[in-house]
Amino acid sequence: MPSPNSPPEAPPSATIGLAPPRLDLSALPPRILRELRASHVGETVAVSLYDGVAGATTDPEVLRFAASHRRVERRHLRLFEAVLPPERRSGPMAFWRWSGRVMGALPAWLGPPYFYAVVAGVEAWVDGHYARQIALARRLAPDPDLLNLLEACRLDESLHARDATRLDPAPPWTARALAGLAVFLSRLGARAARWV
Ligand SMILES: [Fe+2]
Repeated sequence: MPSPNSPPEAPPSATIGLAPPRLDLSALPPRILRELRASHVGETVAVSLYDGVAGATTDPEVLRFAASHRRVERRHLRLFEAVLPPERRSGPMAFWRWSGRVMGALPAWLGPPYFYAVVAGVEAWVDGHYARQIALARRLAPDPDLLNLLEACRLDESLHARDATRLDPAPPWTARALAGLAVFLSRLGARAARWV
């Protein structure tokens, strides 16, 4: 078992070495552009969620989990930043970052079962979010590089959900309720990010 001071182990990731797709944004259907906005916001929130953990807990396992998964989310965010120039992104980025920090800090402060339950719930929802985007892109914009990006991110998110579930497979109902609230807010946020 690694010591609390050892560098976080890199989780397996489908996005290592993945180049951002070169997309002609002017040729993409507006619906796909809105989905890309939502995913750019989602990845911003994910990085901020793991940022929020640092000051909220001293649990070494939670800190290691957050640091290693943050590296993957940072890579996702860079890929979406390369796809979407700033003028195409959602406007209230400071609000999205704040939301992410709260979504990480609160459960981490409450304790590991809350943190892992929220990560497992939200990442499982994000897995489905990417699966829906993949189905939509296949129909409206079947660019192989775009599909690769979405599928690689989906795989990473499903691994994160699995990692969190493995660390606490039976959280108390209060942690499951908090995770349900976090999923509800994520769904709401993704809807809003398509338009603002
Ligand atoms: Fe991600």
